[in-house]
Amino acid sequence: MCGIYGCIADDAAGKVLEGLRKLEYRGYDSAGLAAIFSSSESTPIETEKTTGYVSNLVSKVNGRFDGAEISIGHTRWATHGGVTDNNAHPHSSVDGKITIVHNGIIENATSLSSRLANLGYSLSSETDTEVIVHLLDHEIKTQSDDLSILDAFCNVISKLRGSWALAAIVSGHEGILVSRSGAPLVIGRGEGGISVSSDIQPFYGACSEVAYMSDGDNFLLTTKGIVAKKDSHVPAFEALEGVYDEEDPGNFPHMMLKEIHDQPTSLSNVLSGRISSDGISAELHGFDLSPSEIRKLERINLIACGTAYYASEIISSYIRKFTNVRSEAFIASEFPAKSVCSPNTLTIGVSQSGETKDTLDALLEAKKYGSNISSLCNVIGSTMSRMTGNGAYLHAGPEFAVASTKVFSNMVAAGLLFALTISEATNSEKKKLVQDLRKIPNIISSQLMDMDESIEQATKLILENGPPIFIGRGGFSSYVAKEGALKMMEISYIPCISLPGGKLKHGPIALISEGSPIVAVVPSDSKLNLMETSIRECKSRGAKIILITDSEGPITELADILIQTSPTHPDLSPFTHIVPIQLLAYHVGVAKGVNVDRPRNLAKSVTVV
Ligand code: BG6
Repeated sequence: MCGIYGCIADDAAGKVLEGLRKLEYRGYDSAGLAAIFSSSESTPIETEKTTGYVSNLVSKVNGRFDGAEISIGHTRWATHGGVTDNNAHPHSSVDGKITIVHNGIIENATSLSSRLANLGYSLSSETDTEVIVHLLDHEIKTQSDDLSILDAFCNVISKLRGSWALAAIVSGHEGILVSRSGAPLVIGRGEGGISVSSDIQPFYGACSEVAYMSDGDNFLLTTKGIVAKKDSHVPAFEALEGVYDEEDPGNFPHMMLKEIHDQPTSLSNVLSGRISSDGISAELHGFDLSPSEIRKLERINLIACGTAYYASEIISSYIRKFTNVRSEAFIASEFPAKSVCSPNTLTIGVSQSGETKDTLDALLEAKKYGSNISSLCNVIGSTMSRMTGNGAYLHAGPEFAVASTKVFSNMVAAGLLFALTISEATNSEKKKLVQDLRKIPNIISSQLMDMDESIEQATKLILENGPPIFIGRGGFSSYVAKEGALKMMEISYIPCISLPGGKLKHGPIALISEGSPIVAVVPSDSKLNLMETSIRECKSRGAKIILITDSEGPITELADILIQTSPTHPDLSPFTHIVPIQLLAYHVGVAKGVNVDRPRNLAKSVTVV
């Protein structure tokens, strides 16, 4: 996904650069901005753009846009066209008097560009976005004089297919044209003027009020407020809630390591107020359906992407364990809504950002087939939380590093609280688990302190011996292992696989040769003996075993490197076993010189299909 920021204010360009800095986690292939110094003059709009981070753009602009009145900017996650200066946004009309930035995908760009060719326009970039600015140029130049730039803009929007969040400025005109359809866009207002952004984060410290745009909204933002076409819905401004946590790693070298170490605090936050005062029962509220209504459902679907998907698999294991309701987790882009949704089902979207398009689209599909929908989200006020209107927030605090860590643990914790809240299990069964759950933040805190040496050895082994294979078994550790492989790929660019231990011998064991690293996630649960067998099968082919376990039994003798986790309730093993998994990926990535907070080709969440 890309990040868009725009504003009308004193030093508008400076404010846009600051806004883009806070949106960079959304995409960092390139960055650019445009500025109008005086809206009364019809002179070409000043623009600057560059590949790479916003910091590159700041040095390239080098204060040239100080004093600008109106400005729009963009950080790019490339979908159409290579990572080049030419494909970077903003894109301008031939005469430079109209400029546009876009987040989303214009699915009919090819047919629109041939229509433009018939009108004498040629494209200078490989992007789908550029067609919009030429269409707007044509519309403004050919429409009758009594029509406004907003009229022209709306006519252009009516020709587009796909998803977009757009901001455009026109020389000689006050205001910023904005449109939202399938990609997030919010308006901010404050002392200093009016702004538009892909999310509310940059508004903290710059605006005091926010208005959430809905799909289909097209406006002209001016210092006087929001201008809309007659009979159009105009969102009301509401007070901007919350505070902005600066992306500051503190004493840690990277945000990712800081966020791994944040887990004791973030886990306390997701549990806080959701465990009964007598400490024996979980109470996760906020869902439209009551626990007894949920218990009567035919099934509970969980839909998510990336790290959130592996957390959802563990959550559905908890639901299957503690209730009689059928439950399954699905990769959102593969969600078979028609066959698993009905009015007698609940479909829960699980997402850190609440903006991932695949998950939003799958929720809409679920709704289309009559399913109740809810969400577990981290970002407050996100599209998903407002779309479902019920569910629970994860309270992990902002997560800046692109690869998700602390939010994974909070998703699993919120999912367990949900399963226990709807569970029919007796209080005594639940009591022990809930009491142990309350201890998890401290357990993680102490575990984080004494892992360095074993993690260091495991890092060295992987760097020297090549791609690891991650194995686990059962409803918890096999998904912790899968998340391990994902983290390793995201952070160190090492292609690796993850398998249920029992599946190895049916083919993938052929990959193992002398020294092959195997990362085995083996909590002391009912699958331990079976995992011991799988590990022995690997060792007999010369594999090197990195064993992550809380067991102190004979299985530890099979380890070439033992990463000891703290003992806890078997159902809570995901919390203790995910931490070394995250640290391992982090340290391998750092050793390989990867920018672990901004790995290549990734974005914090993807708002395009
Ligand atoms: C990807 C991120 O873009 O989206 C992953 O790089 C993340 O870290 C995935 O897990 C899903 O994002 P979200 O916000 O829906 O949890």
